Amino acid sequence: MHPLEQLRVEALREIESATDEQTLETARIKYLGRSGSVSAWGEQMKSLAKDEKPIVGKLLNEVRTAVTAAIESRTAQFRSQKESGALSKIDISLPGTPREIGAFHPLTQMLERSIQIFRRMGFALADGPDVEDEWHCFDALNTPPDHPARNEQDTFYLPDGRLLRTHTSTVQIRTMQAAPPPIRVIAPGAAYRRDEVDATHSAQFHQIEGLYVDENVSVADLKGTLEFFMRELFGAETKVQFRPHHFPFTEPSLEIYVKSKALKRGEQWVEVCGCGVVHPAVFEAVNKARGDKAYDPEKWSGYAFGLGMDRLAMILFDIPDIRLFAQNDLRFLRQFA
Ligand code: PHE
Repeated sequence: MHPLEQLRVEALREIESATDEQTLETARIKYLGRSGSVSAWGEQMKSLAKDEKPIVGKLLNEVRTAVTAAIESRTAQFRSQKESGALSKIDISLPGTPREIGAFHPLTQMLERSIQIFRRMGFALADGPDVEDEWHCFDALNTPPDHPARNEQDTFYLPDGRLLRTHTSTVQIRTMQAAPPPIRVIAPGAAYRRDEVDATHSAQFHQIEGLYVDENVSVADLKGTLEFFMRELFGAETKVQFRPHHFPFTEPSLEIYVKSKALKRGEQWVEVCGCGVVHPAVFEAVNKARGDKAYDPEKWSGYAFGLGMDRLAMILFDIPDIRLFAQNDLRFLRQFA
């Protein structure tokens, strides 16, 4: 037997009988390490006679391959032993840890439904900050300094003069500042007022603002869009009423009332939305801020609306008190899961 073959037999036996990764590693170093015996044979090759070299070289390669493979397979054996050892400590017959499945808040559900309906009519989503400046909340919306909505009793002011927006109409202004017409957006979000908190008033409530600006937009477009929205939401037999109202930033201004037999409230008219045709003074304020004439009131017209989301959800889900939305009472929330 060639000494190399002798070496192979020895090495494989030693690897096979290694009892753990430690002894296996010792064997690896002994044979394959830089000064290991297999490597030493590589050195010895140099001094061999020419005709011996190819034969011994071939044998040496075989031995190296065999030893390497044996070490790898023994390593894999040790690994899988270790893993099954760890798994054996787990009792797979034990019941699992149940995970509670959550559900969307009724206001979120309402919001999702509403966004779906407006998306189908081609409205894009717009966004703006809850903490606003007076200009976006009032001045740009044609609301003069002495308007009651700006009163400290009605609005949350920050020490630096900024405020919590009293409506999402601020996003009308921000959207028009950012892009020229045509515009067709909805902007859902929170709004804040210093109302006396009761069953129908909360310091924080939610709106979906809508803004549509194009050529020749009229009250008819506004009525068509919002009537469609209300029927999609509350059912085809829903009755929609438009009553004259006043907002500084729309002219004419309207309030929308709905009633539907399908709803638990039955035959009662409920106010759900303020809306109207965008006032030319709003376009002019935007133009001034933009420094151009992009919103020329002679060329463009538009409508805007502000839907009361809490109100809509209260009607749709027959919720008697707006405060329930914010109390995190699971007995309430589970009813909408
Ligand atoms: N911003 C008004 C409110 O909060 C609603 C509204 C929006 C009215 C857009 C007209 C146009 O009461």
